[in-house]
Amino acid sequence: MSYAHGANFGHGFVKYSIIDPVGQSLTPLVFPALLAPASAHVMGTLQATPTVMVGETAYWVGETALLSPHPLSSLGQQRLRDPHFIPALVRHALHHLQAHRVGAGVCVTGLPATWTRDATHAHMLGARIRAATNLFSDILVIPEPLGVLYALLLDENGQVCGDDALVHGSVGVIDLGHHTLDLSIITALRPHADQLTTITLGTAHVLDLIRTRLSTVFERDLSLHDTDQAVRTGSLVIAGHPCPLPDEWDQPLYNYGVTLATRLHETWGTGQQLDAILLGGGGAALAPLTDAIQQRFPHAQVVPDPQLAVARGYARLARRLVRQQEDGR
Ligand SMILES: Nc1ncnc2c1ncn2[C@@H]1O[C@H](COP(=O)(O)OP(=O)(O)OP(=O)(O)O)[C@@H](O)[C@H]1O
Ligand SMILES: [Mg+2]
Repeated sequence: MSYAHGANFGHGFVKYSIIDPVGQSLTPLVFPALLAPASAHVMGTLQATPTVMVGETAYWVGETALLSPHPLSSLGQQRLRDPHFIPALVRHALHHLQAHRVGAGVCVTGLPATWTRDATHAHMLGARIRAATNLFSDILVIPEPLGVLYALLLDENGQVCGDDALVHGSVGVIDLGHHTLDLSIITALRPHADQLTTITLGTAHVLDLIRTRLSTVFERDLSLHDTDQAVRTGSLVIAGHPCPLPDEWDQPLYNYGVTLATRLHETWGTGQQLDAILLGGGGAALAPLTDAIQQRFPHAQVVPDPQLAVARGYARLARRLVRQQEDGR
């Protein structure tokens, strides 16, 4: 009765996807990859603040960390060396999943493709997860772009259901994240070690430009998280009321779309050598970015629910491993 866990620890958000022992997907979790040392409990408060313990330290994690004036993110490989960061994110996720009685099983997780060239990084991530929980019989660390591919290629039971081009052809994967733009080419299901690119050109860069503009117009300090929410809803709550964003607030998004498309063109040329191009990551939910990319590469397709694609692909691979283990018994 094993569960299949797919855990994607992004720089901006943790995405966590689960498939239960009968092959049913549960509601996925998405929360900011942020933590803050918990402040002292306020006596008499009506709202207790949930904390996560790692070692002797209590943390606020995810949305709760936004209550702190100084939430901490951890970028780059530093997060693998930090003894508390990943364990706190894992415990926060598992705490939420306990409510749905999610049980033990196999976990598939991953790293930006270029980091997986060095096996010590995968070992470090596995060790950080094991430091947080003993729920997993197996933990497999794979290159993130394979998650995007598996989200399309595998069904909820981990069986291959995608079209032949994905199985036998050359597939370009674009993962447009908060901090990084990851590019990979996967041919006949194998990532090319020499065609992996990780560039710090994620959406945080453009959110920062929009934040500056909105802060000036509305005379209000905004976090990147506030700005992200404003971009998603097209409005900002000012003095308790939603206000529409000013004219041309989205111009930086269009400029950024052109920058991305140019960068992709420099790396992949016309892209005609690729049988399919998959666009995943949260940035692929932003039309000004995907439109610019699809103008250059008309056969690029946005995968369904792109922010969750990597985690969904991981969970589907985990489900495949669970079934192989069960069949082998
Ligand atoms: N529904 C949405 N609408 C608009 N933008 C979105 C949406 N969902 C996500 N985003 C954008 O995607 C970004 C997060 O994407 P994602 O979760 O893939 O990044 P990440 O995996 O945390 O980062 P990285 O891949 O760099 O480690 C947000 O910062 C936001 O700009
Ligand atoms: Mg990501």
